[in-house]
Amino acid sequence: MRLICVAGARPNYMKVKPVMDALEERGAEVILVHTGQHYDPAMSDVFFTDLRIRRPDHFLGAGSGSHAAQTCRVMTAFEPLVEQVRPDVVVVVGDVNSTMACALVAAKSGARLAHVEAGLRSRDWSMPEEVNRVVTDRVSDYLFAPSADAVANLQAEGCPDGQIHLAGNVMVDTLLANLDRALAGGILSRLGLEPGGYGVATLHRPANVDDPAVLATLVRALDDVARLCPLVLPAHPRAATRLRGAGLSGQVRVIPPAGYLDFVALQASARLVLTDSGGVQEETTVLGVPCLTLRDNTERPVTLTEGTNQLVGRDPGRIVAAARQVLASPPAPRRPALWDGCAGERIAAVLLASGAGKRLFPAGQPGRHATDPTAGAGQGAVPFSAPSA
Ligand code: UD1
Ligand code: UDP
Repeated sequence: MRLICVAGARPNYMKVKPVMDALEERGAEVILVHTGQHYDPAMSDVFFTDLRIRRPDHFLGAGSGSHAAQTCRVMTAFEPLVEQVRPDVVVVVGDVNSTMACALVAAKSGARLAHVEAGLRSRDWSMPEEVNRVVTDRVSDYLFAPSADAVANLQAEGCPDGQIHLAGNVMVDTLLANLDRALAGGILSRLGLEPGGYGVATLHRPANVDDPAVLATLVRALDDVARLCPLVLPAHPRAATRLRGAGLSGQVRVIPPAGYLDFVALQASARLVLTDSGGVQEETTVLGVPCLTLRDNTERPVTLTEGTNQLVGRDPGRIVAAARQVLASPPAPRRPALWDGCAGERIAAVLLASGAGKRLFPAGQPGRHATDPTAGAGQGAVPFSAPSA
């Protein structure tokens, strides 16, 4: 079987790696495509080195731009590649513009489309990622959900049960596989930090960093938290310039974006993490580190109910009170079901079981082309079952 796996931006690399490895171990031909949405060495190359991902077979060079321009550049570069390669399956991960762009191309190409991390919903339509998630899921043949809440979302939207697979969390596969190497890397001593003696912060959501007034409020909150526990803030390029002019005190140490191994080590030994990242909410749960999410909603509610995450919004008083509370009394570590390091294996098993050269849902049969919304699950259809590894 021939599969294209797509990666485009920082949170994609750690999701694509375990799927690629499991597919290749089972003898599949995998073609790795990098869209070039992220391109700085610190947002791209370092992850290929850290995660030991081989060089992509194709670079699309999409780069930065408005949503339309970036999506369009990925689509127009990806379409001829799919025509040339003629894959059986295109695998997209996550919720970035590259995910949706390649999903739209694949859905019209005759290849089957698999979405890894399907079913996450923030229900916040001001997030570009929510649009990307919903569109990608709607045109996908295989929906690989990381958690039971994601399965329930897909069922409620009428996706047929045959398309939904509770696979577990691929980010956790990568985290568990690399934790020992990360801890041996020496970033704490290079930064002069003691385990348990600092916190970590990250900010990159447009809703938090693009509006100077909102950013100023968050800067005030981070400054106040840093009086309780000094903070290290590896700055995403979207936030870096804006943070420079935002008046952070010296207790918040802004550093360049960290490589994967360094960032995992920083999280693992932190007393707390403050973030608006999706992936960091998941990683802190697995590491058992308290996480305060600087948003009003999350597409990853399982990290609240079965993890160490708390939604604290943007109000400095609320953020500082929550920080004080978790520093005094950290939550007990918990881990959601199937966040066990084997998600990539489960995904590969399902994909390869379908065989080469067949459309999963030919025209006229239920599936992604179904027109009857009551044909799907959530309407009394049989419950999903987790595939065996
Ligand atoms: C993107 C994703 C977001 C994800 C984040 C992960 C979308 C809509 N957003 O947001 O879901 O959480 O990646 O990090 O897909 N830039 C650089 N160097 C780079 C890449 C970007 O300097 O290598 C700068 C450019 O000024 C660019 C800006 O960052 O305009 C934003 O990049 P973009 O990929 O459009 O969105 P992110 O904010 O990175
Ligand atoms: N990450 C990293 N270096 C950093 C910040 C984050 O390696 O400086 C990793 C983090 O461990 C996680 C992923 O990047 O694996 C999350 O990506 P990001 O926060 O950019 O995107 P999101 O998950 O919000 O889409």
